[in-house]
Amino acid sequence: MSDNNSFYITTPIYYVNDKPHLGHTYTAVACDVLARFKRLDGVDVKFLTGTDEHGLKIMQAAEKAGVSPQELTDRVSQNFRDLVDVMNYSNDDFIRTTEERHIKAAQALWQKITDAGDVYLDKYSGWYAVRDEAYYTESELTDGPGGKKIAPSGAECEWVEEESYFFKLSEWQDRLLDFYKKNPNFIQPDSRRNEVISFVEGGLRDLSISRTAFDWGVPVPGDDKHIMYVWIDALTNYMTSVGYPDTECEEFKKFWPADVHVVGKDILRFHAVYWPAFLMSVGLEPPKKIFAHGWWTVEGQKISKSLGNAIAPSELVERYGVDASRYFLMREIPFGNDGNFSHEHAVNRINADLANGLGNLAQRTLSMIYKNCDGKMPAPGTFTGEDKNLLNDAQVRLIDAVRGDLDKLQIHRALEAVMAVTSEADAYVDTQAPWKLKKEDPERMGTVLYVLAETIRCLALIMQPVVPASAAKMLDQLAVPDNERDFSFISADHALKPGVEIAKPEGVFPRIVEEEKQEAANG
Ligand code: MSP
Repeated sequence: MSDNNSFYITTPIYYVNDKPHLGHTYTAVACDVLARFKRLDGVDVKFLTGTDEHGLKIMQAAEKAGVSPQELTDRVSQNFRDLVDVMNYSNDDFIRTTEERHIKAAQALWQKITDAGDVYLDKYSGWYAVRDEAYYTESELTDGPGGKKIAPSGAECEWVEEESYFFKLSEWQDRLLDFYKKNPNFIQPDSRRNEVISFVEGGLRDLSISRTAFDWGVPVPGDDKHIMYVWIDALTNYMTSVGYPDTECEEFKKFWPADVHVVGKDILRFHAVYWPAFLMSVGLEPPKKIFAHGWWTVEGQKISKSLGNAIAPSELVERYGVDASRYFLMREIPFGNDGNFSHEHAVNRINADLANGLGNLAQRTLSMIYKNCDGKMPAPGTFTGEDKNLLNDAQVRLIDAVRGDLDKLQIHRALEAVMAVTSEADAYVDTQAPWKLKKEDPERMGTVLYVLAETIRCLALIMQPVVPASAAKMLDQLAVPDNERDFSFISADHALKPGVEIAKPEGVFPRIVEEEKQEAANG
């Protein structure tokens, strides 16, 4: 049983048939933000991501590319691994399902499920969508052009008839419903939970868990004519990384069950129905939470190969920088909802919140301190009600609100709260007008600038998980020591020390100039 001071968070593992795009980096950035936040809050965190490398879809992609599946997976998996640097993920492990440690884990889980009496050999005849790597019943399908059968996801289905091992999923219906009832937060958001419950209430059919028509997969123990269905293989990755099948090892005891698997809404069923059933079958605890986020469209359209509208994470970073890209992805749409990406929105959001908001607040304040206080943190006098109110918001209320939001994975709300305090500080600058105080009341000017600098310290500390490099720059400029940057330092007891020299202020969040405007400006 994982302990209370540990936190294990995972992304889905990415299929290596395609290049990474915005939708892929979205989950990983969200997990990264949550992982960094918990670490700064003193929790022992494990954050896992990786690639899903078996199955028919990958085999067909390799055939199309004219390379072996192993060559394809090595190449494409590296593209996902490169994102660790491109998007600045702080993952503790990167798993590939073709690794030996994983094959061993998947086979062990298979064996245990078999030993539990939950597997039998039969024949599968039915519909399969390679794109989704999923089985569908006739009633779920619609007719497409040329008599093709189409899955609800839009994927084309093919008729499959082959010998297959089955998992007795039908016997898990009541136990799953009971589990959802006892663990009301297991599936989040609530609307998604209701969807899953209705699906399970509608009745579950046994699940085909092996294939014989191709061989790019983990061999079934004791019958290597069969390879495992890619989803039973893939889901096991979450346990491989913590040492499964050794359930007595430190890592496993510390981190299993996982605190949250963050997934896209399209793969919720695999995580919220099949995965807990497999785990309960072998007497292991299911993860504590499955959170399904929504899907991004790009400029109003579904991301698709044929439209060629996928945005590479590296393209975002070239245009906006890593931190601003991360911020935009997390702030723009409520985590859980669908949303639309447009460059116009990205520019507006980044400029409003980061360049004109937090960045400008820091630049103005620090420049005033640099110029008017000999580059040293001024000593505050007596605090007024307004001073105390802003300080209290920054040092106490904000972190409490952000913690509450992030516990519910409401990342956009946490950022809204940060921006609300930023606006409050902006309004405070306007009403206090420190530039006017320079001659009239320099002591009061010192107090006002101190209150602002201390507010910025707290804002920068809280923003570290989302904009790590930029927040570090802000904290450097305020001369906050490296070992005073975790969340235990967000309090009045650790407020900025008067007299400390600050660095010459430099802008942290550049204003994004839209291309047309840039071109016009360049003449
Ligand atoms: N390999 C499976 C997951 C196995 S987990 C044990 C898979 N891979 S995937 O590469 O197709 O998708 C990975 C994740 O990217 C999924 O969570 C999916 O929802 C997400 N996204 C893919 N396109 C997306 C958008 N357009 N928007 C947001 N997320 C999207 O499924």
